[in-house]
Amino acid sequence: MMKRFTIPVATIILMAAVEMTLAAQQSKTVADARIIINTDLGSEVISRHIYGHFSEHLGHCIYGGYWVGEDSDIDNTRGIRNDVVAALKASGIPNLRWPGGCFADEYHWMDGIGPRDQRPKMVNTHWGGVTEDNSFGTHEFLDLCEQLGTAPYICGNVGSGSVEEMSKWVEYINFDGISPMADLRKENGRDQAWGVQFWGVGNENWGCGGNMRPEYYADQFRRYATYCRNYGDNRLRKIAGGASSNDYNWTEVMMQEIPHQMMWGLSLHHYMTNWRDKGSATDFGEDEYFRTMKYAVDFGPMLDGHIRVMDQYDPRSRVALVVDEWGTWWDVEPGTNPGFLYQQNALRDAFVAAISLNHFNERCRRIKMANIAQTVNVLQAMILTDEEKMILTPTYHVFEMYRVHHDATLLPLNIDSGLQYSYGDQSIPAVSVSASKDINGKVHVSLVNVHPQEATEISLELRGMDADKVTGRILTADALNAHNTFDQPDQVHPESMLGIKLNKEMVSFTLPAHSIVVLELQ
Ligand code: AHR
Repeated sequence: MMKRFTIPVATIILMAAVEMTLAAQQSKTVADARIIINTDLGSEVISRHIYGHFSEHLGHCIYGGYWVGEDSDIDNTRGIRNDVVAALKASGIPNLRWPGGCFADEYHWMDGIGPRDQRPKMVNTHWGGVTEDNSFGTHEFLDLCEQLGTAPYICGNVGSGSVEEMSKWVEYINFDGISPMADLRKENGRDQAWGVQFWGVGNENWGCGGNMRPEYYADQFRRYATYCRNYGDNRLRKIAGGASSNDYNWTEVMMQEIPHQMMWGLSLHHYMTNWRDKGSATDFGEDEYFRTMKYAVDFGPMLDGHIRVMDQYDPRSRVALVVDEWGTWWDVEPGTNPGFLYQQNALRDAFVAAISLNHFNERCRRIKMANIAQTVNVLQAMILTDEEKMILTPTYHVFEMYRVHHDATLLPLNIDSGLQYSYGDQSIPAVSVSASKDINGKVHVSLVNVHPQEATEISLELRGMDADKVTGRILTADALNAHNTFDQPDQVHPESMLGIKLNKEMVSFTLPAHSIVVLELQ
């Protein structure tokens, strides 16, 4: 396919400082950036749940992406693909949100239990109008989570369901004694309760989840949440359906109207897209590239807007901000079902992921969970599959590289960077950084430089630490639209980074143009 992307993304390899398999062309190194990291001052923990995922009954996310059925020729365990499970495990997937999305508010869980050949079929009216056979239901999802070693996050049906239906779902999954729902679960082959903690009370209830006004939804949340019971020692973490993008009023009404002890978290959804003209995932020009980078940078202040509202009503940060849908949203790949939201994933997407994750880390006092949309074959996916083939996307690599931040302590930092990325009459900071210290005392720093052509010299001062070893990994490519395909699955992948200089408290290196770097210091 013809690539429209024409920015001269001359790759920087400065004095062989950085080992990369890029076409080694010359490019400019500009403005120094000075970063000071206070390694002994951190107090907030970056919850691993910030690195969560979302999988909806949409296109080939569930069916084909995870679920192939026990009789498939594709290597599987009880119907679930082994390659996908192994890849997600390797990235440390901490939680998985299911079954939607818009799908959640018309999903009736009882249709998805019992012998598979007797389950009623359903029409997925939101996504392509396809008929699903309900072969992937509660047991299959929770088996998937157990295989992944990840925490399930189940979204209940408020839009077209009932309080009774959701209440029974919690009982079915979580009650270990004798009860109609626990007995039914046992009849269906599962003796032990799963003890699921994370429960979403509806999804986008201002839109596909019932077109409710915020005041009305707040009352609905109170009703539904009342009957979602704690069983045994399991304490539910109930998450209220939240705002879209910059709808601060929705957040405010939830914080005002819902008693905070009923709500572990309040959700927020934000897609970094131009809804009028989403554009191609891989065939784009600098205008679209810049616009997307600006969306990603501006996501930080938008999060701050919601956090400010929450702080006003909950200064002690008891209610978590849960960004349970976020990511890029492009036109579907040519020739694919428009209702399946299947898109490619390029280096540009990796930047959106890396900047967003840095934003979440920096705001971990309030943001305790986030779920990129959507893990396999849909929107900003980690993984794409084609029958038995599977590839990892650049976004996957970001999640795998950033895994080092899971449950680590956020380190306060100052950045003074001269590098701006300007396009037309607009300008954004080119560099984004976040740092943490893990339980073994290792410090990790994740850096992104979105400038297409310019590298920057970084001097990083580690206050409170005498490091004697530094290693680094880098994710970059020779073009901003570089991506992995089934024919060329390894075009974009992390490499080790050489040439980082360490002198007691000072680390210096070149952060190449259009790159993501994660350093480890010990
Ligand atoms: O992720 C795709 C859709 O985007 C979800 O179903 C919905 O919640 C959101 O509008």
